[in-house]
Amino acid sequence: MIPILTLCSYPKLLGGNYLPHVGDYLRTHSPLGKDMRVLDLGCGTGSWCLEMAREFSEAEFIGIDLVPIQPDTLPDNCSFAMDDITKGLPYPDATFDLVTGRLLVMGLRDYPSLLLDIARVIKPGGMYVATEPDINLILPDGRSTGGLKGWVGWEQGLQKAMLTRGTDPHLAPKLPEYFRNAGIFNDVDYLAFDWPLTPWSQDPKQRSVGSVMMRDIRQFPDTSRLLIIDAAGISPVEYDRIKIRFLQEIELDYKIVWKLWSVWGIKSG
Ligand SMILES: C[S@@+](CC[C@H](N)C(=O)[O-])C[C@H]1O[C@@H](n2cnc3c(N)ncnc32)[C@H](O)[C@@H]1O
Repeated sequence: MIPILTLCSYPKLLGGNYLPHVGDYLRTHSPLGKDMRVLDLGCGTGSWCLEMAREFSEAEFIGIDLVPIQPDTLPDNCSFAMDDITKGLPYPDATFDLVTGRLLVMGLRDYPSLLLDIARVIKPGGMYVATEPDINLILPDGRSTGGLKGWVGWEQGLQKAMLTRGTDPHLAPKLPEYFRNAGIFNDVDYLAFDWPLTPWSQDPKQRSVGSVMMRDIRQFPDTSRLLIIDAAGISPVEYDRIKIRFLQEIELDYKIVWKLWSVWGIKSG
């Protein structure tokens, strides 16, 4: 079971549901998103599709996920499909103007192959935006991670479990290279953000992101427990020791950050 982390802090971090260049693209590629088709890979609860469908009422939004956790009542321009995106996207070539994929790192084994299939379903001139965290603790104040034995123990367990399952905890910083190597995307570029996971910042926006994330962070040891115990070979007793320390440490004033990478490219042709 893949632990499903929510990402309700995302709009707060970016200041909206998309980065400014994606908004510019949506508005200029085809006026006001008219007749555009947008696919959200691993859409989770579908909240991004639903909010975007309201904002761009003339565009069509489709979310696809392994699990049916999206609402039943939907606007006319939004729908959801249940499928495994790694088994071949169930759409004809050149269907979408924009494809997005957010926080899929836990579920994807062979990103370069997926990228080719994503490029297949994008229209020439269409855009793909991938947003993924690097699962790697950073302390921007330069302090040693030595005081964070619980966090580091949990994170190392998660990294090991991901590697055992063939997924890459450090996929995010490799994405620009994967996009370029695919040979199908032009204008590949990225932004890498500090993603505060606890409310340590004095900056009100960053603090608010950290506060929202803190609700998820408290669940991390439970949502990832089986994965880490099974795949990383940590005993349940040792895991519970790590969990207790983890929960104590996140209440302290460490500046706990992951880097969130947003990478995009335009399909050539
Ligand atoms: C962490 S959630 C992110 C949800 C959403 N993208 C967001 O940003 O809030 C990861 C989602 O990817 C989905 N997922 C993971 N692997 C998948 C796959 N192979 N095919 C389809 N969906 C997948 C999971 O079911 C889960 O809903």
